[in-house]
Amino acid sequence: MAVRGMLTTALRWDGQSLGLLDQTLLPGREAWITVHGAEDTAAAIRRLAVRGAPNIGIAGAYGLAMAVAADPARLEPDAALLRGARPTAVNLSWAVDRVATAARYGGPEAALAQAEALHASEHAASAAIGAHGADVLERTGARRILTHCNAGALACAGEAGSALACVLELARRGAAVEVLACETRPLLQGARLTVWELERLGLPHALLPDGAAAGLMRRGEIDAVVVGCDRVAANGDVANKVGTYAHALAARAAGIPFLVAGPVSSIDLALPDGDGIEIEERDADEVRRTPGGELLTLPGTPVRNPAFDVTPAALVSALVTEHGVAEPPDAAGVRALAAR
Ligand code: MRU
Repeated sequence: MAVRGMLTTALRWDGQSLGLLDQTLLPGREAWITVHGAEDTAAAIRRLAVRGAPNIGIAGAYGLAMAVAADPARLEPDAALLRGARPTAVNLSWAVDRVATAARYGGPEAALAQAEALHASEHAASAAIGAHGADVLERTGARRILTHCNAGALACAGEAGSALACVLELARRGAAVEVLACETRPLLQGARLTVWELERLGLPHALLPDGAAAGLMRRGEIDAVVVGCDRVAANGDVANKVGTYAHALAARAAGIPFLVAGPVSSIDLALPDGDGIEIEERDADEVRRTPGGELLTLPGTPVRNPAFDVTPAALVSALVTEHGVAEPPDAAGVRALAAR
């Protein structure tokens, strides 16, 4: 399949400050903001101007590097501020901890070198994830592939992130793929961001209401599901955008593969299983209102807004990383991927 492959970049480091493509404004406007330290970087992470597990890690890394360059005494408080900006994706605390360690032993220059190295390695991971994921999909003969939220270049650096990189590589190998992108209530990362990326890549696609996915799987209209991940526990349980677990259950009931794709920086060997993963609860107005602010229900309606859910490893057919694939993931397979 001919793929246009227009490069999408969500973060730009110019040596002094970090440019972020403000994802809250997509797809209507492509506007960049610039952050200069820990506080504005943490605020951008919290309001999802930058989002997706690997990219919040990269942003947090540069945020801390900028903070210690301005004032080395800010290291510990600013590291804590950045780590706390979002709790579920382990990539954020993982990246901030690495930069903090570099700063403690080598000062601001070492901190910046660590942030740049992290950025480069997450960028390189995308192509390797794409190749490993395409190998798995090719074997299953999948063409109609469902995804949830956004696990493309807007989330993970590289040309097409993690889940979308697998589909892009499959298309480049000649498969006539179609991506079924779930809207992803409440913040519509699928409708606003994944569709925007797929259009730029030139990959055939259709947008689905989240509630349509299970029925289409049951009717045999979807061949495989590929999603990203925010944290993978040592036993292979996976936290990802809320709604992912329902897709995994439906995929299992329909007998189709359910793939999880992400860099090894999303693996958290410190947690034995997914029950220990902190699930971020976000503001009630994200559910009561459209992303543009229009009221969808009564103004004071009580709301639950967990931003993520956990899919047990037993429902995951393959965990795809830049180090290879655990198929299916179990404790030994996850440890081997993390160690390489
Ligand atoms: O709240 P978001 O938009 O940051 O959630 C992002 C996701 O859930 C992605 O699927 C995840 O970060 C995977 S990116 C490999």
